Amino acid sequence: MTLRTAGSMLVVFLWSVAVVLGQNGWSVTYTTQSICVLKGSTVKLTCSFRYPRGHKVTSNFWFTKMETEDIGLDPEYAGHVEYHGDKEKDCTLRITDLRERDSSTYRFRLLTDQEGGTYTGSPGVTLSVTGLQVKVTDGHQDKTLTCSTTCTLTDNPTYIWYKNGQHLDESTSPQYKDPVYSNYEDSYSCAVKGHDDLHSPAVCVQGQDCSRVTYTKRRICVLKGSTVDISCTYVGYYSTTSTFWFRSDKSTPEDLTRDPGYTGRVEYTGTYKGPFTLRISDLIEEDSAEYRFTFKTYYFEWGHSFPGTTMSVTGLQVKVTPAAEGQKTLTCITTCTLTDNPTYIWYKNGQRLDEPTSQQYSVNSYYSDSYSCAVEGHEDHHSPAVCVRGESCMNVTYTHQSICALKGSTVDISCFYTHPSWHNLTEVSWFNKWESGVTKDLSQDSEYTSRVEYYRQTEKDSTLRITDLRESDSTEYKFRFTTDKARWGYSFHGTTLTVTGSRVEVTPEWSSESKTLSCSTTCTLSNPNPTYIWYKNGQHLDESTSPPVQRPSLH
Ligand SMILES: *[C@@H]1O[C@H](CO)[C@@H](O)[C@H](O)[C@H]1NC(C)=O
Ligand SMILES: *[C@@H]1O[C@H](CO)[C@@H](O)[C@H](O)[C@H]1NC(C)=O
Repeated sequence: MTLRTAGSMLVVFLWSVAVVLGQNGWSVTYTTQSICVLKGSTVKLTCSFRYPRGHKVTSNFWFTKMETEDIGLDPEYAGHVEYHGDKEKDCTLRITDLRERDSSTYRFRLLTDQEGGTYTGSPGVTLSVTGLQVKVTDGHQDKTLTCSTTCTLTDNPTYIWYKNGQHLDESTSPQYKDPVYSNYEDSYSCAVKGHDDLHSPAVCVQGQDCSRVTYTKRRICVLKGSTVDISCTYVGYYSTTSTFWFRSDKSTPEDLTRDPGYTGRVEYTGTYKGPFTLRISDLIEEDSAEYRFTFKTYYFEWGHSFPGTTMSVTGLQVKVTPAAEGQKTLTCITTCTLTDNPTYIWYKNGQRLDEPTSQQYSVNSYYSDSYSCAVEGHEDHHSPAVCVRGESCMNVTYTHQSICALKGSTVDISCFYTHPSWHNLTEVSWFNKWESGVTKDLSQDSEYTSRVEYYRQTEKDSTLRITDLRESDSTEYKFRFTTDKARWGYSFHGTTLTVTGSRVEVTPEWSSESKTLSCSTTCTLSNPNPTYIWYKNGQHLDESTSPPVQRPSLH
């Protein structure tokens, strides 16, 4: 008995070895041969390969139609495929954000340096991509809803149902029987657990006038610092009486305009009929979340559990990887794939380069330059500078992005800078005009000579002091420095100075029992806690830290 079991196990073992070895030492092994997945999801086609000893792999890739067409080079798949397979064994392919047109048979092909050294792994993996659709069938007394797909989803999914945006039920069967006879305003949608965001469109069970919310995009990836519009449309019989947007990760839905984390950064646009748009500006990484819309009508309230738009906010980072001898590859990386194919911009030592405009850039690894990248249209949100070699390279960091100061006062604008230790500093300069490589040092500018001064506290900082400020000094100030080997550019933002006067504002303007006087400026003073001094008929009155001063019965 024992022997027989051992014997059959041995047979199974030998059989699988045979598959792995394939013919003459060639093989490609796919873990699954057919797979059905949801539109919008990500699939991993796990694969491994072998080739005869003595061969050296020169090229390997995946294809669908023609044996010679690498999908990695197909614009159709740009940004959707990731093939990190190595030259030795692993040929796993990942396809992200799947579309129905990605349904196909995927095969892996291997080329080596020897004669006849080509091999295609057959039969490949058949991928079917399906969306979800709610189908309604009339029964004797009630209606049955089916969450339908065009292929049978792999790994026994759990179905989730939503009625009017509210989570209803979960079941392993794709069918749902509405126990309550539905109203004509009711809409239904289904999803697969774990992929809640890939739900079906909402459908009406009775008539055509049910309430439906459709988000323009289910997922977006945007740059830190930029502004985003998230929108949705609502169709239904009734007009909305109140609407708001909220983050789904809050325990109770909270109107974003009341969330202190978003103060001054959110705006709702759209009429009572929609489309409804949420605009968030000055994006920070913490804004990465799923945003949902909800509304009320006189008769009805949309639920809070229907998935909305998932936003990821990414910064830019330059990654340096060793490439061929004497070279390094710089890649401008993001944590999510930016929507609408961005154009990349590169900076060397703070100076914008005309070329290249792709996400990767190859540089000489012996140079000690610093590089940054940005996305066209968002140049202000460039990546931090990184060194190609060593720890220390050219860099400038301004203490403030903007400063607001009073007319007649004195302002200090400062920055820190670094350069490789084997460079000798030859010049530092502050300026506010630049054009085709030429910058004019402020201490040489007749408007400023008597009013500017440069000083420093350490070896690595510089401060520009401007006295007797004029409103015409309101502009952007930049710093650059030169060493015996390199020079810092002037493409990055410096510090923007706004010079404001102060004037007394009286409210209300016309007669009233009491009036409020406020000391107003055109920008918020950078001095964190300014003290306001009030004068009445030239006489010093009192000091206050808040600008509006209440004075009852001032006539
Ligand atoms: C340059 O300065 C920025 C801002 O302080 C910092 O994030 C970055 O790491 C610095 N880069 C180098 C190469 O020193
Ligand atoms: C840089 O400075 C060091 C120390 O002051 C000096 O010895 C060296 O000659 C300088 N190098 C150049 C190229 O001026």
